[in-house]
Amino acid sequence: MSPARSAEPAAAPGRAHRLTAAGTAGTAGTAGAAAGTAGTAGAAAGTQTGAEAASPAVHAIDLRKQYRHTVALEGLSMTVRRGEVFGFLGPNGAGKTTAVKLLLGLVRPTGGEALVLGAPAGDRETRRRIGYLPELFRFQSWLTAREVLVLHCRLLGLPRPSWRGAADAALQIVGLAGREEDRVGTFSKGMQQRLGLGVALLGEPALIVLDEPTSALDPVGRHQVRMIIRELRDRGATVFLNTHLLEEAEHVCDRVTVIDKGRSVATGTIGEVVGRQSNVRLRVAGLADRWWQPLAGFGRWVADGDGLLIEGIAPGRVPELVQEIVSLGGRVEAVVPEQQSLEARFLELLGET
Ligand SMILES: Nc1ncnc2c1ncn2[C@@H]1O[C@H](COP(=O)(O)OP(=O)(O)OP(=O)(O)O)[C@@H](O)[C@H]1O
Ligand SMILES: [Mg+2]
Repeated sequence: MSPARSAEPAAAPGRAHRLTAAGTAGTAGTAGAAAGTAGTAGAAAGTQTGAEAASPAVHAIDLRKQYRHTVALEGLSMTVRRGEVFGFLGPNGAGKTTAVKLLLGLVRPTGGEALVLGAPAGDRETRRRIGYLPELFRFQSWLTAREVLVLHCRLLGLPRPSWRGAADAALQIVGLAGREEDRVGTFSKGMQQRLGLGVALLGEPALIVLDEPTSALDPVGRHQVRMIIRELRDRGATVFLNTHLLEEAEHVCDRVTVIDKGRSVATGTIGEVVGRQSNVRLRVAGLADRWWQPLAGFGRWVADGDGLLIEGIAPGRVPELVQEIVSLGGRVEAVVPEQQSLEARFLELLGET
């Protein structure tokens, strides 16, 4: 692994937001893999060789990172499949941003290794095919939104005739159409975050890494970003999403890894990882002991006055349960699903309860 630089690029005004190989406008060439077509920002995953496509989008083995006194990552292994929305879920300080920086080659690992799009993390050519929305970033306040995007098209080495079309397509996708001539300095933080997302979509990246993309957005903005993420996946891109928002992971991620204190705690679909228990409470008139047997197949049940609590029932079986009770002669007056909250389960997973 030979990261080209180890500095934090995101906070520095004027630094390429996308991880271009060149890094400065003056040296950006027209080098290949990222060269997209005009006006199709974020449209597809670009061309891949068979071998590339067969490799996972990300494969990390025992990644470790120690900053002076802090162990940020303690042996992280994970695989992100091509074409999925992968959620990297964890509380503040868990090591999410550190992991992303290692995968992008912005920071050197203390140990372990990672392949990204089939190449060692930090590989210069591969960087061109990765869109990156950093956690904290600032664009040049004096540039207009379109100028920011065009600058990044240039840094990416996209062909000059495509710049304006690609910039306008990105503005459209992130909901900033009509604001292209406004200066970034006049943008609200939510608008700046949208613009950052627009930059991450330029050049049809095969992998889009979003570090807390909705942190500055209102509920409408969050919803829109989630729609964009789904659309990116539908077009064949892989999305790596850092988030501490469980709801966000639940809504958009195909799979998640939960990370805590630099270690992976669990991996799977959100359903598998969180594995919430589902109960249903019913108010039923005419409840009788002879029901015990027919209802036992739905879960554990506990009679409680004229109430009935069924624990561990599959949510899809509730209508069937109601039908069974009615056929036994009961009158169902109320059905109240009781699911363990996502948050409660998450805290349990992190050992906080
Ligand atoms: N440059 C650095 N120097 C020293 N320690 C660092 C540095 N960057 C991160 N750390 C430490 O590494 C740990 C993980 O930080 P990281 O930013 O990766 O967490 P995170 O999961 O992204 O958190 P958040 O949700 O708050 O963004 C923290 O303890 C943090 O203080
Ligand atoms: Mg972070």
